[in-house]
This record gives sequence, C-alpha cells and structure tokens, in this order.
Amino acid sequence: SNATVFSMIQPTGCFHLGNYLGATRVWTDLCELKQPGQELIFGVADLHAITVPKPDGEMFRKLRHEAVASVLAVGVDPEKASVVHQSAIPQHSELHWLLSTLASMGFLNRMTQWKSKSNIKQSENGEYQVNDSDVGKVRLGLFSYPVLQAADILLYKSTHVPVGDDQSQHLELTRHLAEKFNKTYKVNFFPKPVTMLAQTKKVLSLSSPEKKMSKSDPNHDSLIFLNDEPNVIQKKIRRALTDSISDRFYYDSVERPGVSNLINIVSGIQRKPIKDVVKDVSQFNNYKDFKDYVSEVIIEELKGPRTEFKKYINEPNYLHSVVESGIRKAREKAAKNLDDIHKIMGF
Ligand code: ADP
Ligand code: NA
Repeated sequence: SNATVFSMIQPTGCFHLGNYLGATRVWTDLCELKQPGQELIFGVADLHAITVPKPDGEMFRKLRHEAVASVLAVGVDPEKASVVHQSAIPQHSELHWLLSTLASMGFLNRMTQWKSKSNIKQSENGEYQVNDSDVGKVRLGLFSYPVLQAADILLYKSTHVPVGDDQSQHLELTRHLAEKFNKTYKVNFFPKPVTMLAQTKKVLSLSSPEKKMSKSDPNHDSLIFLNDEPNVIQKKIRRALTDSISDRFYYDSVERPGVSNLINIVSGIQRKPIKDVVKDVSQFNNYKDFKDYVSEVIIEELKGPRTEFKKYINEPNYLHSVVESGIRKAREKAAKNLDDIHKIMGF
C-alpha cells in the first residue's frame, strides 16, 4: 500500500501517559507493523509549541532535545520512520500560509482548543462563553494552530494520521481544507487523510478528571510522566481524585470519572477491553489495593521507556544524527510536493 502515515507531538514538556497511549506507543506499533511501500514520518511540533507562552530559548532547545529522546525511548525505530523537527522544514510554514487563504474564520472559530488554551469560561453544559474582550487577547498563531496542523499533514500528502481523540476536530478541518483546495483548483491533489484514533480513550487529569491530562497543566500531580520514578508514580496514583464509593470498582465515566480514568489507563496499557479490566479489579474492596494495582501496572509498563530515556538523553550526537537524516528525507518530499502545489496555484 502507498500509505503515508504522519503525526507530531509538541515539545512543551515531558511526555505523559496520555501522549504515550494516545500517540507515541501507537507510532511504535506502526514501526513494528510497517509494510513495504508505507512511509512513516513522526515529528516534534516545535512551531506549534510556541503558540502557548514559551520558555526561554535555552529551555526550549532542551525540550526539543528531550522530545526526540522520548520518541526513541518508547521504541520508535528511526530506521523505519523519519523523525523530524517541524521547524527544520520551512515548507510547513509556507503551506500554512497558502492554506490559511482557504480557511474560514467561522470554521476555525468552532475549534475548541484555542478556547481551552485561552482559559475561556465554560458553562455547565460545557459550552464556551466567548466574549469580545477574551477574543481580543487570543493570538493569531493559537487561532490558526489547526491550519498549521493541516499544512503539516497535507505537505506529505499523508493518508493516515495516528492521534489521540482530542485531535479529531483538527483532522476534520484538515480534510475540509484538502477538499477545498482540490475543488478550488479543480485538481485531485490532496488525499483525504484518515484519522487513526488510538485504541485507548482520552487519558484524563489525575486531580481534575473532567479535563484531559496535558503537558501544559502546571499541576504536576495530575500527570504521570514517562520518566517518573516508581515511588512518584505510586504517590501520584494514591493522590488521584476518586470518589466515596470505596469498596467497589467499576467503569462509569459520568458518575465516577476518577476511577474510570484509572481503569481506562490499565485497559490501554494491557491492551484489554475495559470490561475485562473491570472483571480483574472487581477483586478489590478498598482504594489502597485498587490503586496499588494500578500503580504496579503503570510502573511495569514505563520501566523500559524510563531506562531508554536516560540512555538517549545522554547521547546528543546520536539524537542529532537521527533527526538530521529524518529531516533530509522529509525535506525532499516536502520540496517536491510544494513545487507541485505552486504549479497548481500558478506561482
Ligand atoms: P499535550 O496536549 O499534552 O501538549 P500534544 O498536543 O503534544 O499533547 O499531543 C501529542 C499527541 O498526544 C496527540 O496525538 C494527542 O492526541 C495525544 N494526547 C495528548 N494528550 C492526550 C491525552 N490526555 N489522552 C490521549 N491522547 C493524548
Ligand atoms: Na494538545
């Protein structure tokens, strides 16, 4: 098959369980299952990362470096996939501009990410309450974030995009822009990329399970980082917000979001349906035993990535060479496709 699989992750902080189950473990699986004719491109979305307040340059360089180490630590194979920094391939930014001329404000306005990242208030039913003074403070880059994401994907004429389910909306915009480009210029150039949703449902914050686990959350007790030490993992799981039903553990994402989130994490790690995990945890009749079980499962799973991360982070030259060769390959394809796009548009 001539599939091109593409996905990126932002270097906005240490990777967490959500990034792992929703994205990078899937990338590793795809490397293992790679078919002849398939192309895999996985990247560090550094241009996206600056849409939220950015640390200083030195710190940012460190985060980008750690991101590459993390991608390799979970098992992505640079022999099978090109690992790239988005900013090293200038065609991403140029295609962003070209596509922005086709993207309507109305469509972008419906995206929820710029609202959640601008702390715009939500009503009881979850709808965002947008007022003019809030909008006045939203930066253009944050608003057009999904257009850059569409450019990333379409630049390689990608056919499949493995992401967590927080990204579904952005993939819809990507397909919309692909179609709009094809219609506007009467061509059949961009394929409509398919969203490859991770098997695991969205991983939620440990301390506020009404929102997703996210790197940008300043409360580090709410995330399990891929290189957290076992005792830290255990402590965070013990503190995870649950509820007062302390003798029975079952899945109910509405009434018991905290407990359900822990069950979902175990289900993701063990690649078992939720109902099988529920059967396993029905043996427990107190929070200590239930949470110790969850911690154990997480600690065991992250042992490999934690050790590998420590190894890679001390091999800057190796990381550099991986990214350089990834970039070289990706740039070639990017340049060719952007040339074709230029021709179609009349440049
Ligand atoms: P974050 O929101 O933590 O900064 P990114 O925006 O860099 O993460 O997303 C990188 C990948 O990780 C995306 O594919 C996204 O869908 C996935 N992802 C991020 N957070 C979660 C989560 N809490 N649960 C599942 N997948 C997630
Ligand atoms: Na995100």
